Amino acid sequence: MSETQDPFSAPFGSLFGDQITVAVLEAGGRYEYPGRAQPLENFSLHPGTHALHYASTCFEGLKAHRQIDGALAIFRLDDHANRMVQSVKRLYMPVPDVDLVRTMIIDAVEANAAHTPDSPGSLYIRPTLIGTLRNIGAAASPSDSAILYVLTSPVGDYFAGGIRPLTIYIETEIPRTTPQFGTVKSGANYVMALGPTLDAKRDHGADQVLFATGGDVTETGASNFFLVDDTKIITRHLDESFLHGVTRASVLSLAADMGYQIEERSVPVDELRALAERGEAFLSGTAAVIAPVGRISIGDEDIQVGDGQPGPHTLKLRQALTDIQLGKAEDTHHWLTPVAG
Ligand SMILES: Cc1ncc(COP(=O)(O)O)c(C=O)c1O
Repeated sequence: MSETQDPFSAPFGSLFGDQITVAVLEAGGRYEYPGRAQPLENFSLHPGTHALHYASTCFEGLKAHRQIDGALAIFRLDDHANRMVQSVKRLYMPVPDVDLVRTMIIDAVEANAAHTPDSPGSLYIRPTLIGTLRNIGAAASPSDSAILYVLTSPVGDYFAGGIRPLTIYIETEIPRTTPQFGTVKSGANYVMALGPTLDAKRDHGADQVLFATGGDVTETGASNFFLVDDTKIITRHLDESFLHGVTRASVLSLAADMGYQIEERSVPVDELRALAERGEAFLSGTAAVIAPVGRISIGDEDIQVGDGQPGPHTLKLRQALTDIQLGKAEDTHHWLTPVAG
């Protein structure tokens, strides 16, 4: 990364650390990892590579944060490594050991430590696995060869403009993905959500779409959804329909620590409408952290959430989360993995 590139002005994810970790698995073999990072260079892929035709690819997204004492730590490494392995299994690709995924993430972060911006920036980490079988007739067969790699990206804020109230559009007709892929972090899910997201941006000035097929709230294109008021915090119960966010789990643990009543259950759009008017709503995700929602758009109806500004509960939860990520508060849940750098 050149010294002149600023992660706070460049689009999120558009800058890259200059070192990458890579493991290659040839058919019938195992993942071969050289044990250290290497300079980031383009891959050479055969045009018939399975991932390019049949979307045999999945990824993770996690962050390493510069601590207030100058050290470096990865947030919830094991949860992300485990979710990666789950995604690979659901795509029927060669499954790496979770320990290999873990090691390759740590090595990639250590090799790119110098590129980690101070808070509120961080080093975004993108483990990726692609099916490399060369066969354009293999639409109905899994890839038996693969490349696993860990890319890094120095980042500032995901939503341009820092902490500001977001506008979300509720999409009740088109689902984000298919039922069997809800919990998988696969690229195909994101391209499926693109059409409705672009339409909502253009037609409703929305930042994100909240998918609520049939009137039942699930998640946005890249984050989970919460409602909160003075006593309770509400989010959808875990099922196969959406990605089980690591930030979602962290928010629920912190909210329980703070004494909120936790309600994990279905959230009908009609109830959301009523709760949003008197409470707060926010999105959670590795990239988004905890992002307040100020306006909800349903069809032609516009609902202001609370007074339209980031609410005190949202900000309190965000603070609690980032305090742990940055080593300002005690890591009582053991979510941080310290790394060299
Ligand atoms: C579809 C989707 N839902 C939810 C999330 C939030 O998950 P996490 O908190 O693990 O980043 C993400 C981001 O990774 C996502 O892409």
